[in-house]
Amino acid sequence: MNEPIPQEYDDQLTALLETLWGEGFLSPGGIDEVDRYLAGIKLEGLAVLDIGCGLGGVDIHLVKQHRAAMVSGIDIDQTLIERCRQLAEKSGVGSQTEFICVEPGRLAFADASFDAVTSKDSIIHIPDKHALAEDVFRVLKPGGWFAASDWLAGYEGEPSAEMQAYLAAEGLDFGLATAEVYQQALAMAGFTDLEIVDRNDWYRQHARHERDHLKGALYKGLVAATGAEFVNHEIEVWEKMIVALDQGQLRPTHLRGRKPDRD
Ligand SMILES: C[S@@+](CC[C@H](N)C(=O)[O-])C[C@H]1O[C@@H](n2cnc3c(N)ncnc32)[C@H](O)[C@@H]1O
Repeated sequence: MNEPIPQEYDDQLTALLETLWGEGFLSPGGIDEVDRYLAGIKLEGLAVLDIGCGLGGVDIHLVKQHRAAMVSGIDIDQTLIERCRQLAEKSGVGSQTEFICVEPGRLAFADASFDAVTSKDSIIHIPDKHALAEDVFRVLKPGGWFAASDWLAGYEGEPSAEMQAYLAAEGLDFGLATAEVYQQALAMAGFTDLEIVDRNDWYRQHARHERDHLKGALYKGLVAATGAEFVNHEIEVWEKMIVALDQGQLRPTHLRGRKPDRD
């Protein structure tokens, strides 16, 4: 039997991130960022795969606002998967969503299972971008879109000392790659209509507001919920992340590509 995967996004961290980013979200920008990276892509009536669904906020939004017929969220964390199911039921989209706990590695879906594939800030945890792009291409139907956001590296080789300090403080299992690597992985898998949109400038500014919120209006409530030591540590993480963003080492980015139609 496989060892259980240690829970990276535990109760303390999810409580803080949801307070900051909105119910069901473990990544910045909430539904506005989802709408931005999906702009112009129609999901109405479609079957959508969400890689790294976290607490399910994206999936609920795709059903309620984008009118997807069925959203399948996958994640490696069983506790998060349970919470997705609860939130989807509470939000009235239980029958149009399914949440599946998966092992890291290849996608366990048949070829051409989905009309569209999305992911919000989760592919950072999947080190082999080429294997993932091939798999996403395989599970998409011809003509289907892959549209996502992710956190990319703004450096090749060694990160700066400040980026290393941020990564160490964050302590999550990140496997960052550059925009060139993503571009090459998507192109080699067969995707066309590639678009890679850098969001570093937006998040550099936004992260400062988040840090100020953590230190200000949210501080007392978060300390009561998660403890002062944890909140103070996370404020330190934000300070270090802002330096890494300012240096351009950390680059939140929107990505999209289309699987060509059958001719
Ligand atoms: C930053 S959170 C983002 C969650 C969600 N997409 C959101 O925007 O709120 C990253 C998520 O990726 C999940 N994850 C990590 N490795 C994964 C893998 N190999 N396959 C699927 N999900 C993974 C984590 O458990 C976590 O829920």
